Amino acid sequence: MGDSNGDGIGDIRGIIFKLDYISSLGVDAIWLSPMFCSPMKDNGYDISDYYRIDPIFGDNQDMYNLIEVAHDKGLKIIMDLVANHTSDQHKWFQQSKKSIDNPYSDYYIWKDPKPDGSAPNNWGSHFGGSAWEFCEERGQYYLHYYSKEQPDLNWENPKVRQEIYNAMIFWAEKGVDGWRMDVITEISKYTDFPDYETTNHLPVIGFMHSNGPRLHEYLREMYDTVLEPYQLMTVGEAQNSNAEFAKSLIASSRKELDMIFTFEHMDVDVFPNTPNRKWQLQEFRLSALKQVFKDWQSKLENEGWNTLYFENHDRPRIVSRWGNDKEYRYESATAFATVLHGLKGTPFVYQGEEIGMTNIKLELKKYDDVEIQNNYRELVQKNKTISHEDFMKAVYQIGRDNARTPMQWNDSTNAGFTKSIPWFTVNPRYQEINAEADLSSEKSIYSYYQQLIKLRHEHEIMVEGDVQMVLEDDENIFAYTRSYKGQSWLILANMSEKIINLPEQIRELLVGNNMVLSNVKYTEEGNLSPYQAMIVDISRV
Ligand code: NOJ
Repeated sequence: MGDSNGDGIGDIRGIIFKLDYISSLGVDAIWLSPMFCSPMKDNGYDISDYYRIDPIFGDNQDMYNLIEVAHDKGLKIIMDLVANHTSDQHKWFQQSKKSIDNPYSDYYIWKDPKPDGSAPNNWGSHFGGSAWEFCEERGQYYLHYYSKEQPDLNWENPKVRQEIYNAMIFWAEKGVDGWRMDVITEISKYTDFPDYETTNHLPVIGFMHSNGPRLHEYLREMYDTVLEPYQLMTVGEAQNSNAEFAKSLIASSRKELDMIFTFEHMDVDVFPNTPNRKWQLQEFRLSALKQVFKDWQSKLENEGWNTLYFENHDRPRIVSRWGNDKEYRYESATAFATVLHGLKGTPFVYQGEEIGMTNIKLELKKYDDVEIQNNYRELVQKNKTISHEDFMKAVYQIGRDNARTPMQWNDSTNAGFTKSIPWFTVNPRYQEINAEADLSSEKSIYSYYQQLIKLRHEHEIMVEGDVQMVLEDDENIFAYTRSYKGQSWLILANMSEKIINLPEQIRELLVGNNMVLSNVKYTEEGNLSPYQAMIVDISRV
């Protein structure tokens, strides 16, 4: 958020200074990416001590202060639980790797090599290459779904589970209100570790990497041990979950999680099942995106609560990805916000999204992200399954570092983020795009978000209303209605750069009805201007 001590890195005091900016947006809670002690091989998703804040962000006292000040302002605090893996520098792993007969031996997943010395199976790591790393000291391989510095914990071991619960309880007792759970659907493993069937020798990431046989049992145990007693809110990261499976995680009768983050809508422009995985892109189609939302909205109706997001620290900036980050930056940022926040569920706003921050383009070596660097080595240099040009094109489009550039506060040096050298490149567009400029502009994205969020707080229909898609197959218009207690609202947006002549079906809905919110002041009867979006009370139709 901001760097309070001039070391170039955002920190907890920096967040405290900006709490008014956050709370004025109208949000109810803040999700913080992991801030625990970590060698930062994966931006804190490699934890070496669950009980201590990493000194680069401050200390535990700063965190306790943040919780207190946030609570005073009516904001809840959600921390990030990284429980599928730890850092290889965690004391558990440091012990575990020493021998097969030490108390931490079974804290991780160790397997003997195949008779020819190779890895136990052909499973791949999300960051490229095999999911197994050989450890000389133990003469065995250990499993890591992410980088080799992030060994997977062995959830089969009840002691491991209790260690995680203890850490959760520690923070709950300090006042933390809930947890975002990192890759939580990966914690239970298929312990016989069979090879995936494949026609080549490349490592595979497949269905066995998630939703393992004991997942529900573990979540239920966590619920009974920690979540229920401490009344903690949860949102689990659940790649490979479709809406049907989601119900088994979040239906209230399950007593597992409150909500999950799906990846389905984020993958609509990713070519499915290629060795290049997320880097093999295909054309974006609005109808595909709407189809995913429709599926989740209808299947979870009365059976679960949706999580709504376009951006987070793993996703690029939505205006650059599917909008127009040049001449229609304001219009497309607010159009995407409208169609997302109008849906049923809990929306998440990622820092900078509320002022329409954009993607960046850097030379390969300037990227900090372990996923980009490791996948480049593996796919471009080693396997040669994707060219340098195509890989970089995908990085510019969807690479995680697009969202990790420092927050742009104003047009002073380093966007007002730090007075020294920032830990990562500041987006060169900061003089044009920054919070100060946005707030004083007539076309303020931040104030549009404020209005959207206010609507959700003030109108039950925005919370409870049923969702019915309109013009599902249209490639330009995103439209749906919300209905509740005899009231009906239309959420409507042109998601293209073209002027769209409104279809008869929508014209009829609009006649004589009341505009609730609109991103563009001037409206031309019968047409939608580029990225024009609105919410209209159509109850009188
Ligand atoms: C998902 C997190 O959001 C991502 O940033 C991280 O690299 C992986 N999980 C591994 O923890």
